[in-house]
Amino acid sequence: MNRTHPALSDSAWAESPPPSLIAGCGDIGLRVSQRLRQCGGEVTAIVRDPQKASALERGGCQVRIENLDRPSDAGDWPLLFWFAPPPVQGVEDTRLRAWLAAQRGRIRRVIYISTSGVYGDCEGRWIDENAALRPQSDRARRRVDAEAAWAQWAQCSGAEVITLRVPGIYGPGRWPLERLRQGMPVLRPEDSPWSNRIHADDLAQAAVLAAQRGQAGRAYNVADGTPTTMCDYFTRCARAFGLPQPEQVDRDTAQRIFTPAMWSFMEESKRLLIDRARTELGFVPQYPDLASGLADVSASDR
Ligand SMILES: NC(=O)c1ccc[n+]([C@@H]2O[C@H](COP(=O)([O-])OP(=O)(O)OC[C@H]3O[C@@H](n4cnc5c(N)ncnc54)[C@H](OP(=O)(O)O)[C@@H]3O)[C@@H](O)[C@H]2O)c1
Repeated sequence: MNRTHPALSDSAWAESPPPSLIAGCGDIGLRVSQRLRQCGGEVTAIVRDPQKASALERGGCQVRIENLDRPSDAGDWPLLFWFAPPPVQGVEDTRLRAWLAAQRGRIRRVIYISTSGVYGDCEGRWIDENAALRPQSDRARRRVDAEAAWAQWAQCSGAEVITLRVPGIYGPGRWPLERLRQGMPVLRPEDSPWSNRIHADDLAQAAVLAAQRGQAGRAYNVADGTPTTMCDYFTRCARAFGLPQPEQVDRDTAQRIFTPAMWSFMEESKRLLIDRARTELGFVPQYPDLASGLADVSASDR
């Protein structure tokens, strides 16, 4: 495949975004594809489940049914969005590393969604992207490994890699309704860690802005800028959906009840500064706090 690589300036984007490949095209991929298609961009999406292809095809995307765990050369692309998560075990993103090793074409620019879990526990402090990476769980170690794999590959290939460090994604279809309906308790406010969130639409917008304006080799925190406690999140979701308020429990009780995966989130507390995304990307969240996100809850979400 021979493609030209137009300059990714704001003016080039105004005419049409460059052709894009979205690898791991799930919820955020679909939202990004819709934004790119709306401004005339050509989008190819990689999914492994043929049933997930139809919504993308209806939106005008080309779809490739591929398993990223059986990697092949994707060819030349001006823009790649890598939204596939790492595998569920181990401390490396072996999926990404194997895929990168199979690439022979020229990929000019990459937007990678990582997680804010790479910072580990920051004892509730406000942190920016210069904070040390201190992953505490294997889940976060795999993300640190993925960021390192992209950096190494960028050096060899000359690609521009931009990383978005993202906390909990919420929005339509992603509310914690099952958890609330099951009556799962929450940590009481005084024990509850700070948690950060981003509405799915705002994340999609940030990904497109990063493709357009992000600086090569930079990481950007992408959150709504208004962290609250986890207790606050579940309590307000319950109220918005007319569900019973979750019981509040202390740390000892929670540690007995929660799965190890759930508990690992309780052991990390941080507040994400998003000034870099605001300044360099021009990112302005449409949902700057949970109240604005919950105001949009519709009957179809229930
Ligand atoms: N959930 C959160 O709060 C959160 C927070 C921070 C970052 N993130 C990360 O943000 C990224 C985008 O999130 P999202 O909500 O769009 O996730 P998503 O809806 O789960 O999309 C990820 C997509 O990757 C696909 N995928 C996984 N393994 C694959 C493989 N071997 N071959 C081909 N496709 C594969 C999945 O396909 P299948 O549907 O077939 O599995 C899915 O469609 C993900 O990496 C996610 O882990 C999530």
